[in-house]
Amino acid sequence: MNISIIGSGYVGLVTGSCLAELGNQVLCVDSDIHKIRRLKKGEIPIFEPGLGELIASNVKKRRLHFSSSIKEAVRKAEIIFIAVGTPSLENGEADLTSIEDVARNIALNMTGYCLIVEKSTVPVETGEWVKRTICAYIKRKIKFDVASNPEFLREGQAINDFMHPDRIVIGVESKKAKDILMNLYKPLNAPILVTNIKSAELIKHASNAFLANKISFINALSQICDKVGADVLQVASGMGLDKRIGRSFLDAGLGYGGSCFPKDLDAFLNISNKIGYDFQLLKAVKKINEEQKEFIFKKIKDVLWLIKDKTIGVLGLSFKPDTDDIRNAPSIDIIKSLQREGARVRVYDPVSMEKAKLLLTNVKFCLNPYETALGADCLLVVTEWNEFKELDFVKIKKMLKRPIIIDGRNIYEPKNLEELGFQYTGIGRHGHKV
Ligand code: UDX
Repeated sequence: MNISIIGSGYVGLVTGSCLAELGNQVLCVDSDIHKIRRLKKGEIPIFEPGLGELIASNVKKRRLHFSSSIKEAVRKAEIIFIAVGTPSLENGEADLTSIEDVARNIALNMTGYCLIVEKSTVPVETGEWVKRTICAYIKRKIKFDVASNPEFLREGQAINDFMHPDRIVIGVESKKAKDILMNLYKPLNAPILVTNIKSAELIKHASNAFLANKISFINALSQICDKVGADVLQVASGMGLDKRIGRSFLDAGLGYGGSCFPKDLDAFLNISNKIGYDFQLLKAVKKINEEQKEFIFKKIKDVLWLIKDKTIGVLGLSFKPDTDDIRNAPSIDIIKSLQREGARVRVYDPVSMEKAKLLLTNVKFCLNPYETALGADCLLVVTEWNEFKELDFVKIKKMLKRPIIIDGRNIYEPKNLEELGFQYTGIGRHGHKV
């Protein structure tokens, strides 16, 4: 099939290159001419494992192309995916300016039938507005369909998530649109759920909100565990063995961050409010997530007393491992709070330091975890990168001024570190093995 992807950001590039890999002719479009120039030269603007290789191989096979012309994208395509950004406005509402703009441009350039698919995460009823916008601007009587096909891609595993999805959701209003999308996704051999457009839009918001709910639930529990001396990992295991609950997304820590959960939750709260439903549960989810950062701060104070003039070594900046994304990363807020209280901060992250340099000042960016620990009053784990799980703790202890580890992601076994002479603090961890 001839497919155009409008918006060559994270979602657009992964979707485009994976669809090309399935044998389609794909044109990825972006209004940012510099980005398109870089992509044409083979430079990948984001860090995502395997994406560079996938793009290179499909460009070589002449199945994947790049352009900054939306006109070219619309004229060539049978299917147009809209994958432009939907950032948050100050009130939490999703900014749909780019979606409207793309819908108008599709209408102005359409020469024959095409299927327009929402891929970006959008509030319920956006499909309806896309349809109305196209109808308002279309020049001749040309048939088209609108569909919703939300993405469920996790950063760091996006290609695998695209190729082996738990489910594919297709929101459609016509048999033709349904057949086109069923056919497109047939090679993936995944369960396909066909719904109406509004349900598909809601499934995306509901899924992300529910996952955030799980995280905040276990984080709230971690506070109770700390107060009563229970172990949150054991509680999560016990809960997770119940098939109705499941163990995933029950890792207590510094809370969720990234470009999706915080933004999607705000947008969901905003749309709920607009349609007259006060989604109190989601408000609590958001509040608990914010509180986790204060919780860790209090823990640091509990072990160091005053923060002023103390040196804190921070391991990890990205909002989660295997990505260089620091959008809404807890690390940034935590480091800024520490600095406000007069701490000196040393930090190391395997891939996010260049991006963090634009947001953080007066921070010592280190070459590795050991240099980060050098002369520090405590070592604080913020992101659970694998390389932090296998440190040489004898060496770390020698580097630290005081042997204190505060584990914001519960990656270490308290007893092991205590046996090595560390003072260990996790999140809701009191799990000494018997
Ligand atoms: C998420 C959704 O998973 C994906 O389906 C959607 O399309 C985009 O948003 P992503 O933001 O890449 O993907 O990250 P994910 O792996 O889902 O983690 C989200 C956040 O939750 C991270 O900050 C992570 O550290 C945190 N998290 C996750 C926890 O704190 N505890 C957990 O148990 C799981």
